Amino acid sequence: MKKKVTKAIFPVAGLGTRFLPATKSVPKEIMTLVDRPLIQYAIDEARAAGIEDFIFVTSRGKTALEDYFDLAPDLESALEKSGKTALLDVLRTTNMDSGAIAYIRQHKPLGLGHAVSCASKLIGNEPFAVILPDDVIAAEKPCLQQMVEAYEETGGAMVAAMEVAPDKTSSYGVLDVNDKNGDAVVSINGMVEKPAPGTAPSNLAVIGRYILTPHVMQNFAHITKGAGGEVQLTDAIAAEISQGRDVFGYRFDGQRFDCGSKAGFLQATVAFALARDDLRDDLLSYLSDLNAADKAAQ
Ligand code: UTP
Repeated sequence: MKKKVTKAIFPVAGLGTRFLPATKSVPKEIMTLVDRPLIQYAIDEARAAGIEDFIFVTSRGKTALEDYFDLAPDLESALEKSGKTALLDVLRTTNMDSGAIAYIRQHKPLGLGHAVSCASKLIGNEPFAVILPDDVIAAEKPCLQQMVEAYEETGGAMVAAMEVAPDKTSSYGVLDVNDKNGDAVVSINGMVEKPAPGTAPSNLAVIGRYILTPHVMQNFAHITKGAGGEVQLTDAIAAEISQGRDVFGYRFDGQRFDCGSKAGFLQATVAFALARDDLRDDLLSYLSDLNAADKAAQ
């Protein structure tokens, strides 16, 4: 019987250089879409998928992340005293049970694969999810939940996949797939991280949600630095395929925002604000004024 996926790794040890100078002192994952930090979206998605153990791979300068999930007794009692119960409820959505989160350190940013491998001892012999908090996915059913349901049918390893424009494939891990039918679950022949322009095996790109078998952890012992001089998670998963183990791509339902990039972050901010009843009308009217002024200036 397949084991349930109850553990998730959140690799948050990257340098976040694309958001300097902000990320000099603010972890990228604490940056907010409207009023919730990126990490909150990731945690909520994991909870919806049945995750019970949350493993953060952190680095120096990320203590704001640890504080974010701690209790805030002073703030709670101030809100209680002033009768701000709605805000108190919002605040309490950030509480995590003692012992539910483990923080481990990646001492050097040697790559996403290396960050995941740092959690190996905590994973033990269980299947696990990996969530990259800077990939935010707006979806009716949260993306990881969709994947867990599919994984319960397929077993093996599974990566979230999405079609990207052919000139963008060199920014992603790209899948070599069997079927071109557009099915949600696709079996994979191979995968390559950041293929040189014109060499991608398809335009089906891997984005930041994975369900992996504990065996993937063993592959880190054999793989060397890959694209960009980093230890790549893609290479450890590709090794599963060459060893004859099942790896599937999963075309999820939903819209993904690349919040690791400025343009993606701004688009997500607008999209999430427009989805909010308290902000939508004001923002729409501002955007349409802006659009009109832009047209008039041309
Ligand atoms: P990115 O490729 O977005 O790198 O990492 P980054 O350092 O966060 O940001 P830039 O490119 O310098 O702006 C994808 C994910 O992998 C994690 C990051 O924290 C992010 O969640 N990561 C990356 C690590 O945990 N460790 C690493 O060594 C590299």
